[in-house]
Amino acid sequence: MTFGVYVHVPFCAQRCDYCAFATYDDRDELQDRYAAALHAELARSAADRPAATSVFFGGGTPSRLPAAALVGVLGDIERVADAEVTVECNPEDATLERLIAYRAGGVTRMSFGIQSTQPHVLADLGRRHGVGAHAQVAANVAAAGFTDWNMDLIVGSRAESLADVARTLDDVLGLPGPPPHISCYVLTPEPATPLGRDPARHPDEDAEAAAYDLVGRRLEEAGYRWEEISNWARPGHESRHNQLYWDQGDYQGVGSAAHSHRAGRRWWNVRTPDRYVRLVEAGRSPVAGEEVLDEDTRRFEHDALALRTRTGVPREAFDSLEEIAHLVEVRDGVVRLAPAGRLLANQVILRLRSGA
Ligand SMILES: C[S@@+](CC[C@H](N)C(=O)[O-])C[C@H]1O[C@@H](n2cnc3c(N)ncnc32)[C@H](O)[C@@H]1O
Ligand code: SF4
Repeated sequence: MTFGVYVHVPFCAQRCDYCAFATYDDRDELQDRYAAALHAELARSAADRPAATSVFFGGGTPSRLPAAALVGVLGDIERVADAEVTVECNPEDATLERLIAYRAGGVTRMSFGIQSTQPHVLADLGRRHGVGAHAQVAANVAAAGFTDWNMDLIVGSRAESLADVARTLDDVLGLPGPPPHISCYVLTPEPATPLGRDPARHPDEDAEAAAYDLVGRRLEEAGYRWEEISNWARPGHESRHNQLYWDQGDYQGVGSAAHSHRAGRRWWNVRTPDRYVRLVEAGRSPVAGEEVLDEDTRRFEHDALALRTRTGVPREAFDSLEEIAHLVEVRDGVVRLAPAGRLLANQVILRLRSGA
């Protein structure tokens, strides 16, 4: 039985031009009250919460909180003995001291938003960290004793050529200790962001597809296995927390904007940290809404999630594969996305039987 806990940390030093996550760069003064509210929300729900098999501190920027505050919140979450505990950390926060404090406090896995190693690409994305951050992070994470960790990459910036993508991959894979897990996202122009509002900065679809294809080929040659559209891992270094989401598992989300799921019922907290803190301080529930999925929707979502991963779906989930034959591979009665179909997964998902 798996159970996950997601802890949302809605603070960032500065917003990146592409990011639409529920995070703020002007509310750091709320941090102490926010941490206290997380403690309160966790304490009130403790009786309903099984021991966690995975915990994920995401953001925003969890490393914006003092390490002791983050580790204190983790201490409130009962976990099984070998639980996976991941913290998202911005490269500029990845000091050896902080990483040692995380590890001593029970964190088992780190995730860093590197995005690219090329300065002009980082500048176009509106990132603050500079050249060489990938090497500094890799050195510190190893020195702190972590063997499980991830780097996030983004492809598709208008400033990025295919040669830039290749150089980023050379830099990351050429490290003395490369990350055993890599997430690579294609840049999504989110409407309410500076990048989203400027059509001239939106990715070129052909360039993006070529970049994604190069990433997949290079990572698979280097011994990473494709896990899901945006995730590759060396065997044994898969993210258990991601897998729980992909399996429609049960999880509790705490903090502003956090989502929860238990057996087909989903609910979510208010979006801003201000409202979240005020509600919890007043002894009230921070839940903003909920929905209960009917059986058909659950089955469809199950298949759609499985199709995005290397698990795939049984052939019977489709009436016909005729129009999508070039996007999928069929082996032993299981349909999986072909490399050329991974960025076009939605076209395949539309053909799922229960999605008609
Ligand atoms: C919650 S965020 C980041 C964690 C941390 N704050 C950082 O930036 O290092 C997780 C990842 O989502 C990805 N991401 C965020 N917005 C995106 C977008 N619009 N398009 C593609 N990837 C995006 C980035 O790779 C980012 O590192
Ligand atoms: S990508 Fe990370 S640092 Fe940038 S705004 Fe989003 S959460 Fe904050």
